[in-house]
Amino acid sequence: MTAPLRLGLAGLGTVGIGVVKIVQRHAGLITARTGRPVTITAVSARDRTKNRDADLSAYAWEDDPVALARRDDVDVLIEVMGGHDGPARAATEAAIAAGKDVVTANKALLAHHGQELAEAAEAAGAVIRFEAAVAGGIPVIKALTEGLAGNEIRRVMGVMNGTCNYILTRMQAAGLPYATVFEEARQLGYLEADPNLDVGGIDAGHKLSLLAAIAFGTRVSFDKVELEGIGNVSIEDINLADEMGYHIKLLGVAQMSGRGLEQRMTPCLVPAESPLGQLQGGTNMVVLEGDSVGQIVLRGPGAGEGPTASAVMADVIDLARGLRISTFGQPAATLAQPVAARSATPAPYYIRATLLDKPGALAKIATCLGEAGISIDQMRQLNKPGEKDDLAVVLIVTHKAAPADIAHALDQFGATGVMLGAPVAIRIEAV
Ligand code: NAP
Ligand code: HSE
Repeated sequence: MTAPLRLGLAGLGTVGIGVVKIVQRHAGLITARTGRPVTITAVSARDRTKNRDADLSAYAWEDDPVALARRDDVDVLIEVMGGHDGPARAATEAAIAAGKDVVTANKALLAHHGQELAEAAEAAGAVIRFEAAVAGGIPVIKALTEGLAGNEIRRVMGVMNGTCNYILTRMQAAGLPYATVFEEARQLGYLEADPNLDVGGIDAGHKLSLLAAIAFGTRVSFDKVELEGIGNVSIEDINLADEMGYHIKLLGVAQMSGRGLEQRMTPCLVPAESPLGQLQGGTNMVVLEGDSVGQIVLRGPGAGEGPTASAVMADVIDLARGLRISTFGQPAATLAQPVAARSATPAPYYIRATLLDKPGALAKIATCLGEAGISIDQMRQLNKPGEKDDLAVVLIVTHKAAPADIAHALDQFGATGVMLGAPVAIRIEAV
């Protein structure tokens, strides 16, 4: 029997305790699969006295995760503390400096420092794995780096933040406004300590930037992700989009074209009947498109103790088996500096405009679109009696249009004198 693979576990929260449980529950199964035992030798967290849902008595304790990473009896650092700097970064760097492999669930750390950490790891002969960092229990990193390694990847898409998908689908199912469901999500403990990481699209943007690096062989460029959260998605637009056969999702899209690398994490309309449109609650979905394979759809739990620890252990088991893959699927030095596309690929848009219901109002709006070079595909008008004037809510679906042309047309709406409130435009993604 080969020597055990000895883990140092930094973080004993949701994910860390999940890892402890799998290591303890499946010791025999893991040894059978890898040919060597996998053991935890030492752990670290902030509060040694905290009552935790696992027996930790067999493990050494370190107050300092950097000291944990440097221990002679630790072969692999499991970093499940979180945060893109501070102890997570320090412990990861310490492990790499000591030539040790790192398994992390920390998308923020890699979105901000992925390139330098990957280079340092390779220089030290170490490996960084991060299956748990993207879409929790869904093995999407493996799918891209291994299963689809023979493909040129055309597009990566997905719903990668369960909290946002919970909020949007709950708004739709219950007919509730954003603020009410946001508060429900907070009460249920779904939101990150900083909720803007979830609802601002940042957490999902981190994940998308990691997938884009692997998919397109480029350096992680989170700073180039176009980010828009879900805070401005109204129940009115959710309902009207539904009537037109669409659902609103916080959708990540990364694609490479002659125009450069496009990375977007924004609210989009998707066909209600599509797999993405059907996705309910906190579940994640990632869609991968390769030149040979076509389209792959992966769906599953994007968070939680069991699913996330399952992904951490997949990486640990790879290391125990001797599988060593570069952090982003190819040597860090060969990752290209991406040229960011200046704007998103043209797409159809959903537009909602509230107008004074008087002769010529609709024509003025249509003229603004025409003058911006935007062609109308569908249009509907809903008449509503107002307090002073009657209102017309106009819903327009355009043919494909450049985002800049849509923005220009919406600006021009303001000068028509018929608008009541600001218009709304949401991209319709072809999925
Ligand atoms: P968590 O429940 O908040 O646990 C964090 C753990 O790190 C706690 O045990 C905490 O110690 C420890 N810690 C924090 N600062 C520390 C420090 N300075 N020194 C030592 N220990 C420290 O977090 P989590 O939900 O398990 O998430 C961990 C990581 O996994 C994050 O990067 C997160 O983004 C990622 N992730 C989480 C999920 C999920 O479903 N939760 C899914 C995918 C990815 P105390 O317990 O003593 O406070
Ligand atoms: N806050 C994240 C989510 C946790 O809601 O998906 C998993 O990364």
